[in-house]
Amino acid sequence: METALTIALPKGRIFDSIQKHFADAGINISFDGRQLRVKDDAGKLEAFLVKNSDLPTYVHHGVAGLGFCGEDVLYESGFDFVRLLEAPYGSTRMCLAAPADTPNPLEAEQRLTVATKFTRFTRDYFHAQGRAVDIIRLAGSVELAPLLGLSSCIVDLVETGSTLAANNLRIVEELDTIRVFLIANPAYYKLYFREIRDLVDRLENGGPDMPHGTGRDSDE
Ligand code: PRP
Repeated sequence: METALTIALPKGRIFDSIQKHFADAGINISFDGRQLRVKDDAGKLEAFLVKNSDLPTYVHHGVAGLGFCGEDVLYESGFDFVRLLEAPYGSTRMCLAAPADTPNPLEAEQRLTVATKFTRFTRDYFHAQGRAVDIIRLAGSVELAPLLGLSSCIVDLVETGSTLAANNLRIVEELDTIRVFLIANPAYYKLYFREIRDLVDRLENGGPDMPHGTGRDSDE
């Protein structure tokens, strides 16, 4: 019997886009209620719904062979993966932000104090610039830190910019573009090469019933 490919999918705001991406490729994945593990209708793909920041752990250990994940989380994990496909959605910016009514901290401060969920990225980014930085790790609601005086600025993802605006913060500098990728565990990729390439083709070009080139990435 054919083995189902295994894939970890992140909970949260990007899940709906991923689900639609699969649906456009003719693969139906839906989790009922609190379900965390399902197979697609054809039984060829088994999906696990995981917390975004845990996703690299599942794929690194090979319990999920594949996953959809943002570069922010991939970088923090420190693990190596094969990048199979860039998702045409979910792109965000990693930004340095500070209170709107204060001077630019890059000019005003010798040693920056930065609150962030992305400590590895922040450390490496400022070290590469030769800049001294004190990093305060938070797990969320990072925008509060400069408002309460915990730090002078933050490094965080900015998508629409509404969280910054609602908290009277502004972008000081865009540090990087963060994209979403379909990734594979390297050993798993070798083992299931053909099945994985078929899946990537379908995700790139739409389902098997669709004429080539009229899938979701079409310009029309
Ligand atoms: C992310 C990010 C920002 C916000 C940016 O947080 O860390 O806080 O989204 O989005 P926006 O520019 O569209 O407002 P998330 O929603 O993951 O919640 P968190 O604060 O708990 O990390």
